[in-house]
Amino acid sequence: MAAGIVLITGASRGIGRGLAAKFAAEGWQVLAAARRTSDVPRDPAIHAVPLDVLSDDSVREAAETIAAGFPHIDVLVNNAAVFPGDGNERLEDTPLEWFEEAFAANVVGVARVTRAFLPLLRKSASARIINISSGAGTISEKTDADYYPYSVSKAALNMLTRAMAAEYRGEKIPVYALSPGWVKTEMGGSNAPLSVEESAGSLFRTMTRLGLDKSGGFFGRDGEVYPW
Ligand SMILES: NC(=O)c1ccc[n+]([C@@H]2O[C@H](COP(=O)([O-])OP(=O)(O)OC[C@H]3O[C@@H](n4cnc5c(N)ncnc54)[C@H](OP(=O)(O)O)[C@@H]3O)[C@@H](O)[C@H]2O)c1
Repeated sequence: MAAGIVLITGASRGIGRGLAAKFAAEGWQVLAAARRTSDVPRDPAIHAVPLDVLSDDSVREAAETIAAGFPHIDVLVNNAAVFPGDGNERLEDTPLEWFEEAFAANVVGVARVTRAFLPLLRKSASARIINISSGAGTISEKTDADYYPYSVSKAALNMLTRAMAAEYRGEKIPVYALSPGWVKTEMGGSNAPLSVEESAGSLFRTMTRLGLDKSGGFFGRDGEVYPW
């Protein structure tokens, strides 16, 4: 798709920050949404927008601010997420609040942000929604007991993606779940094989090339089909 206007949540660090820089380098206007706007990349094409995916007020205010300054949004990237704990906790050692924290940001946050920005997406001639998921959300390949709150939340995000794709197919707004790979970030840790730049570069290509017919799909960063 041609360069347009993209909104990315969680653009203060990690993959979201890398995606903001990549989209800007490719000629897009970037709405870099973050709790800590001072950390979004500095670039004339990058507009920092305060946004906490956990807060109705924050998301509504961000939507109002953006609607006042921009005609539409072409791509919404729901990237912000949390990973409570270190992932190795057994079920009995996992504070139940961690399930709530993971769901609040990784599932309800995506629903909240998407609802608030649908009016601006509908004003685009060719809008799309990308939910950043994870291989950890794949149910069919699950053989070990780890990442309880995070993996359960990403599996739920995949279902949210399918449901949204079904609902907005009639409006020609495709919705995709994309996995970025294992990436060196605060969440991914230093042993991850991929740099933020590598992941963001492949994600950008895939995000802007997937066709309408692929809506409701779950893909890796290079567009390869992921198992559910
Ligand atoms: N890294 C990996 O290997 C990997 C693998 C699979 C999937 N993913 C997915 O890729 C995406 C990005 O992950 P990452 O590795 O870049 O993670 P990260 O380094 O931990 O960054 C997470 C980002 O989300 C933001 N965020 C968290 N809660 C938020 C909230 N309530 N409101 C607004 N922003 C919030 C953080 O903002 P603050 O700075 O304000 O905390 C930060 O910008 C996530 O969806 C993650 O699940 C990552």
